[in-house]
Amino acid sequence: MRAATLGNSLESRDVASVLHPFTNAAAHEGSGPEIITSGKGVYITDVAGKQYLDGMAGLWAVALGYSNERLVEAAIRQLNKLPYYHTFASRSNQPSIELAERLIALAPVQMSKVFFTSSGSEAVDTAFKIVWYYNNAIGRPEKRKIISRKRAYHGVNVASGSATGLHVVHAGFGLPVQDIIHTECPHYRMNRLDDESEDQFVERMADSLERLIVEEDPATIAAFIAEPVMGAGGVIPPPEGYFDRVQEVLERYDILLIADEVICGFGRTGNMFGSETYGLKPDLMTMAKALSSGYQPIGAVMISDRLYRAIRDHSAEVPVFGHGYTYSGHPVCAAVALEAQKIYEETDILSHVRTVGAYFQERLWNFADHQLVGEVRGVGLIAAIELVKDKASLERFQTPGVVGGFAAKAAYERGLVVRPLPGGDSLGLCPPLVVTKGEVDRLVALLGSALDDTLEVARRHA
Ligand SMILES: Cc1ncc(COP(=O)(O)O)c(C=O)c1O
Repeated sequence: MRAATLGNSLESRDVASVLHPFTNAAAHEGSGPEIITSGKGVYITDVAGKQYLDGMAGLWAVALGYSNERLVEAAIRQLNKLPYYHTFASRSNQPSIELAERLIALAPVQMSKVFFTSSGSEAVDTAFKIVWYYNNAIGRPEKRKIISRKRAYHGVNVASGSATGLHVVHAGFGLPVQDIIHTECPHYRMNRLDDESEDQFVERMADSLERLIVEEDPATIAAFIAEPVMGAGGVIPPPEGYFDRVQEVLERYDILLIADEVICGFGRTGNMFGSETYGLKPDLMTMAKALSSGYQPIGAVMISDRLYRAIRDHSAEVPVFGHGYTYSGHPVCAAVALEAQKIYEETDILSHVRTVGAYFQERLWNFADHQLVGEVRGVGLIAAIELVKDKASLERFQTPGVVGGFAAKAAYERGLVVRPLPGGDSLGLCPPLVVTKGEVDRLVALLGSALDDTLEVARRHA
């Protein structure tokens, strides 16, 4: 009972007063929090003064690393000028106008308008509501089901949490709600049938999606949502040709595509958006996280002109587009996001990610020979290492999460943050985009020692 023995410490005050997201509440009472007090570059420092290389960019967000002076200055400038005003009822502010213009210019396909939110979950819920509004406006209100995928992560709000395809987000809350359904997870190496080639696997995934659409009735299916690379569900890049085949199916049944770029957006895969890396042509795009390098809570949804025109033309019947948040287009959040976008451009962050990302993937691939590692997968500066019980058959450990959890803890003790991903024994890696080759070397060395520390525990849980 470490926390209970700490008197009036910050740790015990946390236990007494804070309900933590994605945390075992009972265990937290015993272990207490890990309190982080500062950050610089790719490093964070805890309350005891110990430094950690942040191999997860916070939560896949801090693209420019910690303590970026330009982002801090942008926030201070805007706080001094206009710390808050809303964007309801035609009100606006300069930073959000400039940010919207920039996002439209960056979009991989022609986009028309940007709607601002405070988070990725809000962006996904907003995207669904826009899809529903669109179909209502054009006279087909029955076309409202959303198809997501098993192991997807789209957030935690009632609708976005329903789209997430992970037990941990549904259990206890009675999710998913109706009209949000799930198709197969396209993880070739783990979900293929015996002797199934990657092409055959992709065909099976597309057939399975089409079967679901037909069974549910195509007239009721409004949209398909996908992360270009599935993130929190295991860092799963799509197999070759997957999105081409999926998009053929969607077109056949007039189903909209929502690309959830909350993790992939702004350089993570080596292009500005994951949609470019994998050939997605979305009707809507959701984004957050690296939009502001995680420095301010801001998300956005970009929509095509077809969707915007339906909203505009519906104004005669429904006088107000009745959706929006107090903080939609928050001037300080927008100013910081705008500055982050300028830095990405001025520093040519994409070239940096392509060079260091290739090195990062190559170094991680060396772990493929490690006794515990079943698969190394990733692209650009995002990756996962999957720990398995049996390397040859890829058989998983009996109780998922124990070995991965131990490895992440061992890494943390050695000064490296990696994330044990839910539902299995994958370790997620997603360092700030500004990470250097030298810092990648350090990350790899620390991770290697942590995996060696884990061998004994893995043997016991085999
Ligand atoms: C792909 C994706 N979509 C949506 C979200 C939800 O974002 P937020 O946590 O800002 O609500 C996340 C968060 O990790 C995400 O990875």
